[in-house]
Amino acid sequence: MDAPRAARLAVAARPPGPRAPARFPFASSTAPRRAGWWWCPRDPRADSSGGGSTFPSSGRCTRLALALAHRNRSPAANLGLPPHRPPRSPAAGIGTRVTGDGGCEGRPLVECAGDRPIQEPAGVVEEKASEMSSTVPKSSNIFWHDCAVGKADRQKLLKQKGCVVWITGLSGSGKSTLACKLGRELHTRGKLAYVLDGDNLRHGLNKDLGFKAEDRVENIRRVGEVAKLFADAGLVCIASLISPYRRDREACRALLSDGSFVEVFLNMSLELCEARDPKGLYKLARAGKIKGFTGIDDPYEAPLNCEIEIKEVDGACPTPSDMAGQVVTYLEEKGFLHE
Ligand code: ADX
Repeated sequence: MDAPRAARLAVAARPPGPRAPARFPFASSTAPRRAGWWWCPRDPRADSSGGGSTFPSSGRCTRLALALAHRNRSPAANLGLPPHRPPRSPAAGIGTRVTGDGGCEGRPLVECAGDRPIQEPAGVVEEKASEMSSTVPKSSNIFWHDCAVGKADRQKLLKQKGCVVWITGLSGSGKSTLACKLGRELHTRGKLAYVLDGDNLRHGLNKDLGFKAEDRVENIRRVGEVAKLFADAGLVCIASLISPYRRDREACRALLSDGSFVEVFLNMSLELCEARDPKGLYKLARAGKIKGFTGIDDPYEAPLNCEIEIKEVDGACPTPSDMAGQVVTYLEEKGFLHE
């Protein structure tokens, strides 16, 4: 084990501070229902005592939250881009797992081991997060070529507007089910849509990526770029990925012109997803056979500013038709399904 990792594990071994269990409660199966979500001291829904709140809360995601979250950030951070840093040596940081900034400015990013957070000073983790990103351009002497047929022409042809429907949520929350049902609904209405599914993309475009934090960052970055191209082609691009880090989703949002990135949060509890466990992966993760599984020993950062939040009803996931119906209604109302 390298020295920094040993140091972090030593920190994790210390008893948590007074607020630690509330902030990073990666729930055991016996934990209370709302456990397993992030605590954010800057969440505008926090109570007036300033004690923060847990996600998900009963409040809905708000645009105000986005504005607040971005207000004090640097221009690079506003674009979801890290500041430029020289590349690190390939050996550096092996085995580290670093999250996005969680939208909580000034708070340290965290690494998680089991159900305990390993806290690191903000500067150290920010350094790592930016080093692992591949958003720093490596090409020079390149030029952008415009083509005679543009997005507006394609949209006219298709009688719809290009956009990205980005579905995020825990494994087993129903993302792929919603994506496919939505694709079918749109097809039935004569609208051109295409599904980019996280699992499927990992069979091809992203087959070189695993589930370490830096791999997830790159996974989301690539899919965000591809989704942007599909939207530019005039399609309704349905991207369904866990996309656990808020910062990465925000970076994808920043790639799209205003309003054409529609974030859909499948707000299903860990308990529900784990009970469903359609692929048997939670069982393996609990048995320690999969390390770094989202919601178990890897974080999921709930959106603060999603356009659509779909919640479980009486401990059950809404039907695929209900979920797809909500999204179709939103797309209708916002004019995406017309010229
Ligand atoms: S993401 O975190 O990078 O967005 P992505 O959506 O592409 O993940 O892939 C998630 C799928 O990979 C899950 O549906 C699950 O089937 C599988 N999977 C395998 N290992 C893990 C893991 N450690 N954490 C989460 N999902 C995993």
